Amino acid sequence: MTSTIDPAFTVGQVNPLLFGTFVEHLGRCVYTGIYEPTHPTADADGFRGDVAGLVQELGATIVRYPGGNFVSNYRWEDGVGPRANRPRVLDLAWKSIETNQVGTDDFLAWCNRIGIQPMLAVNLGNRGLSEAVDYLEYVNGAAGTRYADQRVGNGYAEPWNVRLWCLGNEMDGPWQIGHKTPLEYARLAQEVARAYKTFDPELQLVACGSSNTTMPTFGEWERVVLEHCFDDVELISAHAYYEPVDGDEVSFLSSSTHMDRFIRGVVATADHVAAKRHSGKRINVSFDEWNVWFAARHGEREEERSAASEAPELIQDVYNALDAVVVGSLLITLLRNTDRVGVACQAQLVNAIAPILTVAGGAAWRQTIFHPFALTAKYARGTVLMLAGDQGQVDTPAYGPVEQVWAVATHDPEAGELTVFAVNRSLTDAASWQLRLGAFGDVRLTEHLVLAEDDRYAVNSSDMPDRVVPHPGTSGITDCALDVTMPPASWHCIRLACH
Ligand code: AHR
Repeated sequence: MTSTIDPAFTVGQVNPLLFGTFVEHLGRCVYTGIYEPTHPTADADGFRGDVAGLVQELGATIVRYPGGNFVSNYRWEDGVGPRANRPRVLDLAWKSIETNQVGTDDFLAWCNRIGIQPMLAVNLGNRGLSEAVDYLEYVNGAAGTRYADQRVGNGYAEPWNVRLWCLGNEMDGPWQIGHKTPLEYARLAQEVARAYKTFDPELQLVACGSSNTTMPTFGEWERVVLEHCFDDVELISAHAYYEPVDGDEVSFLSSSTHMDRFIRGVVATADHVAAKRHSGKRINVSFDEWNVWFAARHGEREEERSAASEAPELIQDVYNALDAVVVGSLLITLLRNTDRVGVACQAQLVNAIAPILTVAGGAAWRQTIFHPFALTAKYARGTVLMLAGDQGQVDTPAYGPVEQVWAVATHDPEAGELTVFAVNRSLTDAASWQLRLGAFGDVRLTEHLVLAEDDRYAVNSSDMPDRVVPHPGTSGITDCALDVTMPPASWHCIRLACH
C-alpha cells in the first residue's frame, strides 16, 4: 500500500471546535462527575479538581450543556440563585431526581475557570419562544432588564456572552419530551432564531437535524427545517453512536464510513436548499453528539430501574481497546470534513458514555477512548491534508468495500510539523503502508504512537488505569518515504518534523 501526502492536498484549516465535548444532566455526568462538593479535590464552588485536570488534559475546546434529552424538560430558572432555594424536580428524560445544585451560572463559571468555551442548548420541548428569549436575556443580557438583573442579583454582574446556541435537542425523536413533526419544529426554530438574532445578530445558532440516520424522516427533516431557518441559523446538528450490531465488529471498526456518509448527506441537503435559494451561504454541520455507545446494554439496565433517584449509574460504558481505535477513526473523519463541520462534541465527558470515569469520593481515570481524543486535539494543527493513493480494502457487511487504512494529515508550516492520523480498519490483517512525503523536503520522524492491543477487549479501570495506553509504533523514513507497520485494529499518531 502506497499513499502520497502533499501540502497542496488541502481540505481547510483545522477547526479547533472539532474537539468538543458534552455535559448533560444524565446519570453521574454532573453529580459525582464534574461536581462533588465533598470530594477531597473539590474547588470553592464544589467542582472536582481531579476531573477538571483531566478535562484540560483531554484538550476539549467547547462543551455543550445541559442536554441532550434532559434539556427538553428543563426549567433553567430552577438552576440559578442560592443553592439552598433550588427545587428538587423529576427529570422525565432520564427518570431521575434533579437537585439543581448545578445550573447555568455554576456551569458557565466552571467553563471560565478551566478555559473551555460553552455551547448552550435551549428547551424547545415543553417550553417555547418566550422562555427561550428569557433564558438568552438571563445569560447574555446587559444589566438593566428583568432577567439580566436577576443574574446580577445572583452574583454574576457581567453577561456570560455565550456565542453558540442549540435550538432544542433531537426534536424528531418520539422519546423526546415535546417531540415535533418537521414542520412544527421548523416554525418554532425559525421564530426562536429570529428573536435570538434580533437580540444579537452575531450569535451562532444550531437547528436540530435528525437524531440519527435511521429516523424515517432523515433527509426530509433537514430539508424542511432549513427551508424555514436557512437565513437565521449557521449550523444543523447530526448525532451518531456506534456499536457492533449483532457482533459485527468488522463494520463497527469501519464506523467512520458511516459518519463520513452522514456528514456528506447533511451537507448535500443543506447545499440543495442553498441552491434553490440561489444562495452562496453555507450551512455547516454541528456533529454535537458522537461516540461509541453500547445502547443494547443500556436498555437492559434501564429496565432494571424501578424508582427515580439522584445521579443514578446510567450508561457508564467501559470502553475497550477496539472502541478507542473506532473513536480515533471518527476523529479522522471529522478532520477530513473540517471544511463543513463547524462544531463536533463527543458525548459525553464524565461517567455517562465518557472518556473519564470517576468513583464518588474517590479516583478519576482515563478510559481507553481518552487517548486518541487527547492526542488528536493536541497535535492536529494548521491545515488538514487528504491523502492520495492506495489505502487497501476491507469488505464490511454494513458498508461494502471500504479503505483498509483510514487516514488524514495536518500540516503546520510555521512550526514545521506534519502529523499523520491513521487507522488500520482490518480486524485480522496487519498493513505495511508507505507514505511518500517528497513534497515536504527533509522530513524527520519525531514520534510515532500507536493504540493496539493483542487483547482488543482490554479496558482501563480504577485498579489498572493505564492498562490501555498509546505505545511507540514501528515506522522509519528512507528516501522521503515513511514506512509504517500497522497491526490489525490499530490507531496511529505519527509526528514528523519538516522544514
Ligand atoms: O447522549 C445521550 C443521549 O443521546 C442524549 O441525551 C440524546 O440527545 C441522545 O439521544
